Amino acid sequence: MSASERTRVAIVGAGPAGLTLAHLLHRAGIETIVLESRSRDYIEGRVRAGVLEHQTAQLLYEIGVGARMRREGLIHRGIELQFGDTRHRIDFEDLTNGKSVVVYGQQEVVKDLIAARLADGLGLHFSCEVTAIDPETGSAPGSRVRYRDDGGVERTIEADFIAGCDGFHGPARAAIPAAELNVYDHVFPFAWLGILATSPPVSEELIYANHERGFALISMRSRTVSRIYLQCGVDEDPATWPDDRIWSELRLRLAAGVGKEIVEGPIFQKGITPMRSYICAPMRYRRLFLAGDAAHIVPPTGAKGMNLAIADVRVLARAFARYFAAGSIDLLDAYSETCLDRIWKTQRFSAFMTRLLHRYDTYDPFERRLQRAEFDYLIGSRAAAESLAENYVGLPFAETAGSVT
Ligand code: FAD
Ligand code: DHB
Repeated sequence: MSASERTRVAIVGAGPAGLTLAHLLHRAGIETIVLESRSRDYIEGRVRAGVLEHQTAQLLYEIGVGARMRREGLIHRGIELQFGDTRHRIDFEDLTNGKSVVVYGQQEVVKDLIAARLADGLGLHFSCEVTAIDPETGSAPGSRVRYRDDGGVERTIEADFIAGCDGFHGPARAAIPAAELNVYDHVFPFAWLGILATSPPVSEELIYANHERGFALISMRSRTVSRIYLQCGVDEDPATWPDDRIWSELRLRLAAGVGKEIVEGPIFQKGITPMRSYICAPMRYRRLFLAGDAAHIVPPTGAKGMNLAIADVRVLARAFARYFAAGSIDLLDAYSETCLDRIWKTQRFSAFMTRLLHRYDTYDPFERRLQRAEFDYLIGSRAAAESLAENYVGLPFAETAGSVT
């Protein structure tokens, strides 16, 4: 690798956003360099989201990275909601004209995208930390990224554009002058303790439970591995949650029939996820485009984070493809607005699910009763259930010209 390189699009971050963008651009014949601060082992092992919206899964199939997901992913045609001891199934197929979601771990999507890039003979720069982003200098007109390579050597890439796909804590958003951004930020007063356990899922479908002791979610990664989340305090340490406490708390929060079915297997992963809603707008500054968590965070209730990241880069890839094929900047100029319309609607849904399902210590009896009324409305009204199902399987992708699939 020489000390200074040139490419069309420098992609910062190899999460779902960066890797999907790199793959889409390769299909459109556009050269990219992907820089990732962590090692390949680390990002392939990082446990995060697990639900793919209908169209996210379709996109991954269409662009040739869905073969293993087709074999190993679990198709879910509904979810269960629980309030106290009342349970209700939301039937996606019936309510959305046959749509479903796929339960398949985020790190599996990441592994499939990495494998596809390597199979295409293209490199990925792991353990290369981006240290500076300049959205407008460099030769040509262009932009510049500096990074420290895996041997500690400082290097520079000159690029026509930079895609900031570096997650919430990466350097891309920070490279935009604060005065250029509108920030919307809301922190929820609770967190999730998430675990993976060798334990057969107690239910064929996900169960989202609102209980007086707090929210619980039963999900899965396979027929033998359960993914479980419990509402906890924001500053809690997973060490204060020994396995016994987790299983007994889960039994208490699940409706009587389900709690009895739980098989207490070994817990092999524990972590705390804070709950936040965040949007910065616009998602662009000069030649730097933000995508995924770099620009927005949703609370995880409803599993939208990874789906939004992939939806963003679908729009961005089309915009770059148009620019490099026809010299037209119209889709690049529209990128932020095109994405934000769907992002705000998804924020709305994630906040709705979060408020519906969690215990708020500050709620008075009136607010608690309103929460119950919201649940009763959902289980009694087809229109309300359709709205939930339509959002859960995923709102339509943005209308945008062009195609890179
Ligand atoms: P990321 O996946 O964060 O990828 C960004 C990449 O950029 C990372 O690989 C990072 O290492 C890299 N990077 C950062 N800084 C630099 C740098 N300086 N140089 C080079 N590379 C850099 N969503 C759900 O729907 N359900 C969940 O249960 C859920 N759980 C989550 C748990 C945690 C702890 C977190 C953090 C997120 C969770 N999410 C969940 C959200 C979901 O995983 C994200 O929305 C998704 O990862 C977004 O993808 P992304 O590619 O935008 O960002
Ligand atoms: C999972 C995560 C979520 O945030 C959610 O709403 C459903 C499932 C999961 O990790 O399986």
